Amino acid sequence: METELLTPDEAGLQKAAELIREGQVVGMPTETVYGLAADATNRDAVAKVFVAKGRPMDNPLIVHISSMEELEQAVSRVPELVASLADAFWPGPLTMIMPKSERIPMETSGGLDTVGVRMPSHPVAQALIRTAGVPIAAPSANRSGYPSPTTAQHVLADMQGRIPAILDGGACSCGLESTVVTFDDDRTVRILRPGFVTKEMLLEHVPNVVIDPAIFRQVSASEKVASPGMKYKHYAPNAAVTLVEGSPELFRQFLALQQADGVYALIFDGDAEQFPYPHMTYGGTSIEQGRQLFARLRELDQIGAKTVYVRMPQKDGVGLAVYNRLIRAAGFDIVHLAPRI
Ligand code: TXA
Ligand code: MG
Repeated sequence: METELLTPDEAGLQKAAELIREGQVVGMPTETVYGLAADATNRDAVAKVFVAKGRPMDNPLIVHISSMEELEQAVSRVPELVASLADAFWPGPLTMIMPKSERIPMETSGGLDTVGVRMPSHPVAQALIRTAGVPIAAPSANRSGYPSPTTAQHVLADMQGRIPAILDGGACSCGLESTVVTFDDDRTVRILRPGFVTKEMLLEHVPNVVIDPAIFRQVSASEKVASPGMKYKHYAPNAAVTLVEGSPELFRQFLALQQADGVYALIFDGDAEQFPYPHMTYGGTSIEQGRQLFARLRELDQIGAKTVYVRMPQKDGVGLAVYNRLIRAAGFDIVHLAPRI
């Protein structure tokens, strides 16, 4: 099949909504990353999403809604803390896991009796959900394991010939996937995937927030984890990525020793002037890094990078999300540089 790029005007939205209602899969822009959208209540449609992505069937999809009424149809119980968090962060980059309703099939939830729900803020995503008239299941629109797409061109590169259409909503403003949370009890939120909604932001609305320790380590395929996505290879370009922690000076000295064909550095904007080796930059602040990281990893593959040494980002605030994606992109290959004494 040919994959059509649709302009998100009235005609484009109608066409995309019709495809969704027919049980097809459509590329959809959101404020975080592009998603592969299908009718969340239609098992056959959802199965096509797993096939298009090459995704393991036990890794659940997030259900996207455009109103609080739709939430009540998708879940069987709304945990205590959801109302205040929805009030503060929806529409926006926060996914909350709740017990699923009968309406959401096991195909969508990866066999779990819970479902992750998110109300996206991107106007095209909202319009598509409303026009289709069904809740929309959407994982990130990359081939499984590859960096998430933040432009329609990225989706096309991964999904050409595999889906009928992509709505082109421009570049995503966040650039990293949503923060995923679950509820330990009526007071405690557990972060399963860090994102633009940070622990500090959540703490302004709930009494207690814990960060799941599995976020920071390698999880084996047979392990039981709160979020199946933690088990799988993620966000990795074709080039081998190594994350390097150390001052700009030590990083430069280290790169001097690595020089060979296809070796690139991915550094901060501010470091570039003094940097004599092949490199790209991924912003200065954590927010810029979040927005640019996946696009840069894809560009590095395009220019033929074989090995990429990435300067370690800040790990606080939104930086935690950037760090989380990078340790997985690097397959936990991390070098810590210390000055010689
Ligand atoms: O920003 C986003 O969340 C994007 C856009 C398209 O909305 N979507 C996205 O979906 O990143 P995906 O499928 O690539 O990542 C969803 C993550 C996976 O790691 C999955 O394991 C976890 O959320 N997840 C989904 N439902 C879950 C559930 N019921 N219980 C535990 N983890 C869940
Ligand atoms: Mg994904």
